[in-house]
Amino acid sequence: MTAEVRLGVLASGRGSNLRNLVERGYEVVAMATNRPSCGAARLAREHGIAVGEFSQRRFGSLAERDTAMRDWLRSRRVELVVNAGYDRILSPEFVSAFPGRILNIHPSLLPAFGGAMDAVQKALAHGVKITGCTVHLVTDEVDAGPILLQAAVPVEPQDSPETLHARIQREEHRILPEAIELLAQKSPSLRQ
Ligand code: GAR
Repeated sequence: MTAEVRLGVLASGRGSNLRNLVERGYEVVAMATNRPSCGAARLAREHGIAVGEFSQRRFGSLAERDTAMRDWLRSRRVELVVNAGYDRILSPEFVSAFPGRILNIHPSLLPAFGGAMDAVQKALAHGVKITGCTVHLVTDEVDAGPILLQAAVPVEPQDSPETLHARIQREEHRILPEAIELLAQKSPSLRQ
């Protein structure tokens, strides 16, 4: 178990993946968000995790915002960045600051339904019978970095976006920790 790797979580949403990591004992030392009132930020504060607020309106450009976020994460000595429902594209400068050390969880079987936050709705609209979730390394190309793990999830005929997303999230909560373990095994320097 890789509880000793210092994780920085980026999130904009409800925070169920963040909650899962915290409950499993991962060392989340920083949580950065562009939406300071989101569920993930509230959860982080409740758990005494440092919250970095990076609302776009405070910065002149995306690059400036990402530079500030990068410096803040570095100041917290973050070793692995985990995108868990972060709804902004990261600048190339941010990505290159953590080479091979940014994970993203996405609620579809990439490369299907990538590129945005509506993968579950798109899967339903498309009528696929199987969808799922993917954990991949973040590169400059959105949702296209090397895939570490995927899990398949059946689509039921009566599914709504909410019921399907809930089924996908059960798998997300299993494979995101597994991917962190996998990466830590591959990069021993992640272990202190
Ligand atoms: C997750 O389902 C994640 O896969 C998705 O946002 C949700 C966040 O849930 N990410 C994307 O769609 C990225 N394009 P959470 O706030 O409950 O962890």
